[in-house]
Amino acid sequence: MNVGLLGTGHYVPTKVVTNKDMEKIVDTSDEWIRTRTGIEERRIAGDDIDTSDMAFFAAKQALEEANVSAEEIDLILVATVTPDTPFPSVANRLQNRLGCGSVASMDIGAACSGFMYGMVTAKQFIETKAYKKVLVVGVEKLSKITNWEDRNTCVLFGDGAGAAVVGEVSEGKGILSFELGSDGSGGKHLYQDENNQLIMNGREVFKFAVRQMPQSSVNVIEKTGYNKEDVDYLIPHQANIRIMNAARERLGISEDKMATSVKKYGNTSSASIPIALSEAVKDGKIKDNDLVVMVGFGGGLTWGAIAFRY
Ligand code: ACO
Repeated sequence: MNVGLLGTGHYVPTKVVTNKDMEKIVDTSDEWIRTRTGIEERRIAGDDIDTSDMAFFAAKQALEEANVSAEEIDLILVATVTPDTPFPSVANRLQNRLGCGSVASMDIGAACSGFMYGMVTAKQFIETKAYKKVLVVGVEKLSKITNWEDRNTCVLFGDGAGAAVVGEVSEGKGILSFELGSDGSGGKHLYQDENNQLIMNGREVFKFAVRQMPQSSVNVIEKTGYNKEDVDYLIPHQANIRIMNAARERLGISEDKMATSVKKYGNTSSASIPIALSEAVKDGKIKDNDLVVMVGFGGGLTWGAIAFRY
């Protein structure tokens, strides 16, 4: 059976916070942020919008694009490290708000790799014929765990949501290969502390990411039997343009074949890949039959990559 995308959706808050705005909050500069990260602005959700609200908007759009009703969804998976509350989960909230049946719903915690974990989990349930249609969401309201006095981290993050409806697709399409991994010994480099704030050793995470993202990208392509030259589009986790370029260069593909929404949205953790995916579909950057690689890394440490034919 071939398992792939039936529809995608995304939502970002309307409030834009530019690098110039960040200069008023911490001792930083537009030039530093652009050259070190590629980020120009980010979206920040107000007090009236929580994680599940963003997840709901993105999920609605994905269901519409897929032409699938909420009642047809058999399982809801939400990747997030910033749920409204640890329980009920964001997935439980979505089940009710979307008007799905009394179906299974759960959150997945794998930080920025969470959407990869969600997609691969969905694939297993569909292949075993346990479920037909799975809603997978990546969503974060990172602004609520950001230390707005720490210039090392606060300039990097943003809020948003991306979603996909996953189900059976035609022969030759869908997920061709995947890789998931974790290394808990690196947990000390990126975590949430006792004050619920995000702590990161940027240099260590950078070193891990520039090694892992290119390697995982190559691994999933090798598993498909295709060559690097066959890749039509790359969607790396949108954390830092320098890390993203390391993966792109390793695959040997040109700049225009890589999603770069990090410029507009910063690092939205679990949401970054599905937002970029949904935008690429809507902008026509991913076309019918394209070979696409999605690859993420994040806190845990975790990583994950998927090669699929759209
Ligand atoms: N503005 C100005 N100066 C800054 C800022 C800032 N916002 N932040 C740090 N600096 C300073 C530092 O204090 C340091 O000064 P020092 O040399 O006097 O100590 C200097 O800039 C250089 O710091 P470096 O750490 O060498 O900068 P680097 O080139 O490594 O870039 C960055 C830092 C952007 C954080 C990079 O390390 C990075 O991207 N790391 C990976 C982060 C990441 O991708 N995280 C993703 C996972 S997040 C998640 O999963 C939720």
